[in-house]
Amino acid sequence: MIEDLTAVHEEIRALAAERDAVLLAHNYQRPEVQDVADFVGDSLGLARQAAATDAAVIVFAGVHFMAETAAILSPDKTVLLPEPRAGCPMADMITAEQARAFKAAHPGLPLVTYVNSSAAVKAETDVCCTSANATDVVRSLGADRVLFAPDRNLGAWVASQVPEVEVTVWDGCCPIHDAVTPAQVEEARAAHPGALVLTHPECRPEVNALADAVLSTSGMLRYAAETDAAELIVVTEEGLLHGLSKAAPGVTFHHIAPRMLCPNMKLTTIEKVRDALRDLRGAVEVPEETRARALGAVERMVAIG
Ligand code: 13P
Ligand code: SF4
Repeated sequence: MIEDLTAVHEEIRALAAERDAVLLAHNYQRPEVQDVADFVGDSLGLARQAAATDAAVIVFAGVHFMAETAAILSPDKTVLLPEPRAGCPMADMITAEQARAFKAAHPGLPLVTYVNSSAAVKAETDVCCTSANATDVVRSLGADRVLFAPDRNLGAWVASQVPEVEVTVWDGCCPIHDAVTPAQVEEARAAHPGALVLTHPECRPEVNALADAVLSTSGMLRYAAETDAAELIVVTEEGLLHGLSKAAPGVTFHHIAPRMLCPNMKLTTIEKVRDALRDLRGAVEVPEETRARALGAVERMVAIG
């Protein structure tokens, strides 16, 4: 339990000013972390903030690959991850060696890599993408065949949107989104007739097939703010519910049951954000040789869509 949230927030804002730091928080972070951040967003929005900031220090309230991506884009900044154990299991589902073997098995095909991957895998990549721009990124290549890693579900979603391109996917996934079943969505619809269903493209194809819209987290926030629907069923990690209720206070949100919770996203507490800023602790660094090889793929991602 946080004893005095207002006091911790004030301490964080004062430390951020002192350190010339910008605080970026992903849409899945704890509400009290989102509320003290300079920017809250999806992977693409936060990567763009990291690339554009003038601040000397970037505090990334998110998971490791997000901080690494910021370090690739902004090598002259100190990038802090308040909780060093906050990883992403999907990012660990392909290694650089496996990415090289994937390409070698399909000579000449471009490799599109989801931002949820290590810097070493990005270094083997032609272009990175996020869930917000994956379709545009694949279209931008003008190729009739591409490789996609590590998320087979996002790859399948892209393939359904760009039928003229043959997408060969790596067999990785987000354990939290991949666990959702069509039966859960059907049960939620039965419990809330008239509500529209929003799913994240990390869900399985048979789950996305039941959705009214398949969107990145910031896409869901925009959709909620603009919809005429009175009720929405949300099929993504529970942290987004905080932003949704702020973005669309007139809409009733139903989170899919059982609830989806990413334990890694929840490792970052408000106290750890404060401690990282106070002690300048948790710096994430990418070896220069890897960074230089990954930079082009990440810059293209930030520029597209
Ligand atoms: P977005 O916020 O980019 O939709 O990403 C979702 C996610 O699972 C990040 O780890
Ligand atoms: Fe990784 Fe899924 Fe957690 Fe996002 S929600 S950080 S993809 S495990």
